Amino acid sequence: MAHEVKGVIASAQGQPVSLTTVIVPDPGPGEALVTVQACGVCHTDLHYREGGIGADFPYLLGHEAAGVVEAVGPDVTGLAPGDFVILNWRAVCGQCRACLRGRPWYCFATHNARQKMTLADGTVLSPALGIGAFASKTLVAAGQCTKVDSRIKPEVAGLLGCGVMAGLGAALNTAGVSRGDTVAVIGCGGVGDAAILGATLAGARAVIAVDVDDRKLELARQFGATDTVNSRAADPVDAIRALTEGNGADVVIEAVGRPETYKQAFYARDLAGTVVLVGVPTPQMQLELPLLDVFGRGGALKSSWYGDCLPTRDFPMLVDLHLQGRLPLEKFVSETIAIDGVEEAFAKMQRGEVLRSVVVL
Ligand SMILES: NC(=O)c1ccc[n+]([C@@H]2O[C@H](COP(=O)([O-])OP(=O)(O)OC[C@H]3O[C@@H](n4cnc5c(N)ncnc54)[C@H](O)[C@@H]3O)[C@@H](O)[C@H]2O)c1
Ligand SMILES: [Zn+2]
Ligand SMILES: [Zn+2]
Repeated sequence: MAHEVKGVIASAQGQPVSLTTVIVPDPGPGEALVTVQACGVCHTDLHYREGGIGADFPYLLGHEAAGVVEAVGPDVTGLAPGDFVILNWRAVCGQCRACLRGRPWYCFATHNARQKMTLADGTVLSPALGIGAFASKTLVAAGQCTKVDSRIKPEVAGLLGCGVMAGLGAALNTAGVSRGDTVAVIGCGGVGDAAILGATLAGARAVIAVDVDDRKLELARQFGATDTVNSRAADPVDAIRALTEGNGADVVIEAVGRPETYKQAFYARDLAGTVVLVGVPTPQMQLELPLLDVFGRGGALKSSWYGDCLPTRDFPMLVDLHLQGRLPLEKFVSETIAIDGVEEAFAKMQRGEVLRSVVVL
């Protein structure tokens, strides 16, 4: 039996999204059908709509979600109807060369549902990040469902499914920020603020927030930023150096995804420091740097996909921290909206008015 639900579709590059009927198949082997309760609006959804990630239109958007398992495929174990889950886009395969070397957070062959969700006329949909959760039901691989304590609110839990995990993990897992480090974060949206929170949790002694919008810088302070720099008003490299005794930060996290901000991150870093790129660039973007500077300044230039997280390891732990009052995830939720509010949420994101709009279903 297939299910008919409403879903948010990006049907052509740069065109507004629309709410359309989506056909969701019943779960087959290895799959799970999930009733979505909440799904955050991430900048990556907007990248999809703008054709920045691929040209496999139509996309079923939404990928930062939590919900309840409604049904599982015949061979699925360890997951049952009624389980409260956060959806992830890293269902590890256990068999690729990364998994076999004991580094599953780099898994190169992550699982998604095999059956396709479609429009009513049979057109196959591409679910954003293999999830597609701006819909009241979605079909995913069973491994994309991570069970967590159901006392957490869905609109807060879902954020761990993408942006907040990406930012926290960029600081905690990819950069390995540790006690006493100086950290700068360029771009203070949901992802950047989560990196600030992660750096704070890890014991950084200074966390410098950089953005072009003063409202974002004010919010960044609420997540633990010790200093803020508006890079429209001051050169961020000079400012970060001035705040770190002239040296630059031990770790600079780029959460915008542009060559100019990457260069700022590169030069705002102390010798032998670490740059982590979390922002997603478009296919057209090119980076030019003197190779001698890349060599001479030493250290590590890394990118971070999904905060190098392992959902089974990280989601339940972060939910526990939240329930103990040690991880204020609720501060990321600027507003909750209905499923027909996604296009307006993109506009608010672009105007800098929100950290996260969360669709509640
Ligand atoms: N690597 C991953 O796994 C991963 C996961 C989720 C999102 N992302 C990416 O992270 C980026 C941020 O996502 P988000 O949801 O926080 O977006 P967002 O739009 O909410 O935030 C972006 C922030 O960057 C600021 N900004 C824009 N231009 C700037 C500039 N030149 N200098 C300094 N700040 C600038 C904006 O004012 C805004 O505060 C996006 O590119 C998104 O696609 C990556
Ligand atoms: Zn693998
Ligand atoms: Zn995302």
